[in-house]
Amino acid sequence: MASPNSDKSRPLKTIPGSHGWPFFGAIKDRHDYFYLQGQDDFFRARINKHKSTVFRTNMPPGPFISSNPKVIAVLDAASFPILFDNSKIEKRNVLDGTFMPSTAFTGGHRVCAYLDTSEPNHAKLKAFFLSVLASKKDYFIPLFRASLSELFATIEDHVHDKTKKYSANFNALNDEMSFNFVFQLLCDRKPSDCGLGSTGQTRFNKWIFVQLHPLVSLGLSKFLMLLEDFLLHTVHLPWFIVKSDYKKLYDAFFSSAGSVLDEAHERFGIEREEACHNLVFLAGFNAYGGFKAWFPILIKWIASAGESLHRQLADEIRTVVKEEGGVTFTALEKMSLTKSVVYEALRIEPPVPYQYGKAREDLVVYSHDAGFEIKKGEMIFGYQPFATKDPKVFENPEEFVGHRFVGEGEKLLKYVFWSNNRETEDPTADNKQCPGRDLVVLLSRVMMVELFLRYDTLTVEVGKLPIGSSVKIKSLTTTKTTV
Ligand code: HEM
Repeated sequence: MASPNSDKSRPLKTIPGSHGWPFFGAIKDRHDYFYLQGQDDFFRARINKHKSTVFRTNMPPGPFISSNPKVIAVLDAASFPILFDNSKIEKRNVLDGTFMPSTAFTGGHRVCAYLDTSEPNHAKLKAFFLSVLASKKDYFIPLFRASLSELFATIEDHVHDKTKKYSANFNALNDEMSFNFVFQLLCDRKPSDCGLGSTGQTRFNKWIFVQLHPLVSLGLSKFLMLLEDFLLHTVHLPWFIVKSDYKKLYDAFFSSAGSVLDEAHERFGIEREEACHNLVFLAGFNAYGGFKAWFPILIKWIASAGESLHRQLADEIRTVVKEEGGVTFTALEKMSLTKSVVYEALRIEPPVPYQYGKAREDLVVYSHDAGFEIKKGEMIFGYQPFATKDPKVFENPEEFVGHRFVGEGEKLLKYVFWSNNRETEDPTADNKQCPGRDLVVLLSRVMMVELFLRYDTLTVEVGKLPIGSSVKIKSLTTTKTTV
């Protein structure tokens, strides 16, 4: 495939599509997106209509939350990476798309994820995060394995329990495990030791929902759709609903993450208070929010892949762990199928599916077929699942192919974009790639390892949630006993 956004041999075309009438066009697109077509069909219908993977549309929420919902959608593997080019794309206040929640949610600060690379505070905060993560590296595997031990023990109990209908709600148990893991990693203490009890994840859930409600639909009956649209998509829910939850979380981090905050102040010149609001956002929105969506997706795809793949994973994992004498970085690196399976899940269902950025200058974006002129200041929007399931790059793109990235397949990793950059690039203080990239990939591999060291296969029941999937574990089978 030609290198995206550089091949000038493709003809220049006018961007098809329109934003419709002011106000009404945005409302129509919002209704199509949430209620009449649904996400994937919304984009598919417009690709078919315009015969182009680059077109103009509005993105929800629109009036009255977004002052300007107009975007240019880029929906293939060639045009999507324009969003990673910081020299051409501004990422100021676009984390959630065409609106930004109040800074009251973060103590009055614009936290790192909302900052553009041209703002000096971005590099300072990002360097601080990268340094914190590097300093915690030795804890990643042992702490996560301990967290998973508790998680699987509880899952087994629930799968045995008649009162739980012999099934384990993976999402709820994963929320608790993920929150405890993130808190302990950053604060070196259990959340129960600092006044949070077991309420941390519920408080974060509320705080995240009140920021992201303009982007979700609860899937209510048709009768309640208009009411939902009015309540969730027309005005912001007030931040004070979660004021006390946020204060409790902030206080717990401020009193427990002393050494991390000292480092922010002494090494990076960031005030402790600003560093702590950034740390809470990193812990709650970026890390916990990411794991909350991602681990159920991972388990869903692994379980659905079937017993033959499970057998191969169990073989690989047990053999390598035996050879290496434990679950180490080196051992994980040797598990080529396990690695491929994690990348395949990140490709087929990227947990953060939307990316936005504004053109810093007039520019041309190239799809596989044509170039399109974009004016300075216009908003570019990428729906990532369409880029990472691009049939011009991936064979059988809608199919979960566990071995896809093994051997020669590794060459395709440059088309895996889940971390807001190619999987072959690294997060730095100067780009907008997720600094948790390596941690997420590592923990996902460790989750596979712990699963298949314990069990031969598993079955799940899957449903849809406003964000991500719901997963109930129905059975876990070992060679000798069926759990
Ligand atoms: C499965 C879990 C995760 C997913 C899917 C995820 C995904 C992403 C994505 C897509 C972005 C870019 C958003 C944008 O600008 O459009 C991002 C940014 C970010 N992520 Fe993650 N992330 C995850 C876990 C983590 C973890 C564990 C951490 C830290 C411990 C983290 C910290 C951040 C930060 C600080 C940013 C902003 C980067 C910047 O402004 O340069 N994330 N993440």
